[in-house]
Amino acid sequence: MTDSPKPLSRREVLTTLGVAASAASLWPAAAHAAAADLPLSSRELWEWVRAQPVLQTGIVYLDTASTGPALRTALVAEYRSREAINLNHGEYSRTWLSPAAVTQFAERIAAFAGAGTDEVTLTTGATESLNIVANGLPLEAGDEIIVTTHEHAAHLHAWLLQARRRGIVVKQIGMPAPLGDPVQILEAFTAAITPRTRVLAMSHVLYSTGTVLPVREICELARSRNIVSVVDGAQAFGMLNFSLRDLGCDFYAASLAKWLNGGLGTGLLYVRGEWLDRLWPIAADGPTGWSEGGSFGLADPADAELRSGWPATLRKFGTNYRSFVPLFQGLNVAFDLQERIGRARIEARVRELAIYAQLKLQEVRGLSVITPTHPSLWAGIVSFTIRGQDLKPLASALAERESTVIRHVAHSGIAFEALRVSPHVYNSHEDIDRLIFGLKQHMA
Ligand SMILES: Cc1ncc(COP(=O)(O)O)c(C=O)c1O
Repeated sequence: MTDSPKPLSRREVLTTLGVAASAASLWPAAAHAAAADLPLSSRELWEWVRAQPVLQTGIVYLDTASTGPALRTALVAEYRSREAINLNHGEYSRTWLSPAAVTQFAERIAAFAGAGTDEVTLTTGATESLNIVANGLPLEAGDEIIVTTHEHAAHLHAWLLQARRRGIVVKQIGMPAPLGDPVQILEAFTAAITPRTRVLAMSHVLYSTGTVLPVREICELARSRNIVSVVDGAQAFGMLNFSLRDLGCDFYAASLAKWLNGGLGTGLLYVRGEWLDRLWPIAADGPTGWSEGGSFGLADPADAELRSGWPATLRKFGTNYRSFVPLFQGLNVAFDLQERIGRARIEARVRELAIYAQLKLQEVRGLSVITPTHPSLWAGIVSFTIRGQDLKPLASALAERESTVIRHVAHSGIAFEALRVSPHVYNSHEDIDRLIFGLKQHMA
């Protein structure tokens, strides 16, 4: 292989604090650099981690649930990839789009997610992933989809579009806030099922209250009734340590730009193997997609041959994959970092910061945390309201006066409003102390 991206110089590696070396090689098998390269003690590790993403100095950023900052080394990897493409286009196609390179990348993502290599594809975000599923399922007028009232607009609207177009019926089931027990939501789904129900669709973690839904149980319920299960994992993937195989869903949509810090415009779609032939793609992309290897005879045979070796789900649903390889090179660095730290350790750190936030928030007069307290129902997102306070201006004031970024979330359909804190591994207890200080200042 000639003209592949040159390894980063020593200076670049040092500037970007170490994880870039893996990004320089072809989907690096060597990417799984030893965890021992990282500081071992928690204090030193989290200090090191804090330097990895692009965060503005002096800002307390507690809003990963909106956008996870990209890693410095990922941006370098992406840039180097774009540079290499511009230097030699032909080589780019022959190497990065080769079945070997594409399969290698799909393999690592599938291994991370706990899925088969033929069951995953990359997308531009959870929004695209959810729309591929809602658009591609064989549904008819009158078929029912059950969702919760707390789904993110990106998820809900994917179904509402199909309701408008195909006459399917979207039924929303109420979510008590806070939810007291996981059984409550399981019962609500069970009660809503009718003979016309085709899909149970839910968030893994609600963007609004941070509630972790009992997804495995809901998917099991769906399967036992011959109903399709669709999970919106935008707020879980990269935060929680789980395997898709274990979750048992038919489809899983993830944003990789939030808790995985994979960079804006990155997402994942999992399609359980048995659905590969039955789910329609949104777009057919030359030799990829439903025409299966250019059966219309329109595709360049060399191109078709190249792509016939791609993993099946990526080939069918990864429209425009070929244009996004530089972005996925950056993404690769983000996967590296998670694997090197360890997903269990990441989840534990996020939970530790979240429980600290929950406890400290309770010191603020008039404030109510609405994230559930049941141990299986909360994770890295903490939402709250404050009696007598206008929440939206409060979020703006915190950003402007205290340089502290949290998110105002509102859902007009159900008159829901809250402030949301979402700390990730690069945050610290001091960041949360700053938030509490800011809240108290504002309300003094
Ligand atoms: C629950 C949920 N689903 C979907 C999305 C959309 O994700 P993406 O930006 O990756 O398309 C979001 C974004 O905030 C979300 O919170």
